Amino acid sequence: MMMRISELKKAIVILGSTGSIGRNTLEIIRHHPDKFKILALTAGKNTALLSEQIKEFHPLMVAVEAEKEAEKLRREFSRYGVKVLSGGNGLETVASLKQADLVVSAITGIAGLRPTYVALEQGIDVALANKESMVVAGSFLKKIAARTGARIIPVDSEHSGVFQCLNGRKKRSISRIFLTASGGPFLKIPIKELAEKSLADALQHPRWKMGKKITIDSATLMNKGLELIEARWLFDLKPSELQVIIHPQSIVHALVEFKDGSILAQLSQTDMRIPIQYALSYPERLSSPLPALDLTSVQNLEFYPVDEKRYPLFNLARRVLEAQPSFSVVLNAANEIAVEAFLEEKISFGQIYSVVDHCLQEHRVVRLSCLEDVFILDEEVRNQARQYLKLKGKEK
Ligand SMILES: NC(=O)c1ccc[n+]([C@@H]2O[C@H](COP(=O)([O-])OP(=O)(O)OC[C@H]3O[C@@H](n4cnc5c(N)ncnc54)[C@H](OP(=O)(O)O)[C@@H]3O)[C@@H](O)[C@H]2O)c1
Repeated sequence: MMMRISELKKAIVILGSTGSIGRNTLEIIRHHPDKFKILALTAGKNTALLSEQIKEFHPLMVAVEAEKEAEKLRREFSRYGVKVLSGGNGLETVASLKQADLVVSAITGIAGLRPTYVALEQGIDVALANKESMVVAGSFLKKIAARTGARIIPVDSEHSGVFQCLNGRKKRSISRIFLTASGGPFLKIPIKELAEKSLADALQHPRWKMGKKITIDSATLMNKGLELIEARWLFDLKPSELQVIIHPQSIVHALVEFKDGSILAQLSQTDMRIPIQYALSYPERLSSPLPALDLTSVQNLEFYPVDEKRYPLFNLARRVLEAQPSFSVVLNAANEIAVEAFLEEKISFGQIYSVVDHCLQEHRVVRLSCLEDVFILDEEVRNQARQYLKLKGKEK
């Protein structure tokens, strides 16, 4: 039977198309118009950019956060057959489109959890950038994916590196997995100066261009702590099998050590388009829009242990990795509130740690038996973190 070209294209939904991962995903799709087509897109507040994306990629459906903004888009695009939705229900409808071959989950924070879950529930493969979902609800996401047969393909460069090194190898052959960390902008700053570092300083990541939340998480190294918890669920590993090492060049993204002492590493340019493209095309490999990595121009590859005095939030996250899952929900929620406050310049860099530490100290283990339990605990911790910030504000 003859197949039309369009039937060979993967139909892609991007949750968070206006963000850093979303825009990079669209670049890959632009580069491979014969391989992928856009089925639906979602944005939060940046409806101006979403309008541009609708004009270029002709999605069947889009969703935005606010109904007022959705109404404006409807006036502009309904006549072209674009369905415009809003709010949480809108996101879930887009995420569960039956015609989708792959949902790219690229919303920041816990806002990405429900749509990621419903995509997997529908049996749709998910390219997962939204690490916070895996951190707070890893067991539920893995369970639903196992039930429906949907695949979770990592987008985070380190997890993509592990995924590529493992390439289906048996878990029992692995002894350890190393995730690399650049160390962020404060790798060499005297530790006593860290607490007062400004927002502008913290946003200057030396290697990666990313959204603001993850850039701050990289400066505190919380990002790597979240990635350890993400890796635990993604690859079904014990905490003792997971390690982070500082690698300032960000060329080696992950290493897998096997029982026989061999180590496989994944190297590539420091550019998210590489892991994004692999997640889109998996298991196929396509030509890259980027120039090849010139190994002779990489002068050296350095690896150091993490100094947890420099990165106390990483120390908290590493301890949470070994604790009951409800601690991961607390870690993530408190961190989201603290980073939001730092981005709004309401607290200092050092206070991000105080907020997260306070919420973890206050927490008593809760049994999480369903996704709703995660949302309830998440909301409680957010309120607690906001309350703590209010009290600290009054003490000034
Ligand atoms: N950037 C990277 O290189 C990178 C690497 C690895 C993993 N990740 C992970 O990928 C995720 C996205 O990161 P990013 O850097 O792309 O973030 P970003 O640039 O801040 O983009 C976030 C996206 O999510 C949308 N969004 C935010 N809150 C929303 C809400 N409440 N409802 C609906 N949409 C919402 C934003 O919409 P508007 O902008 O329209 O408001 C935007 O499209 C994060 O979980 C991050 O940890 C990112």
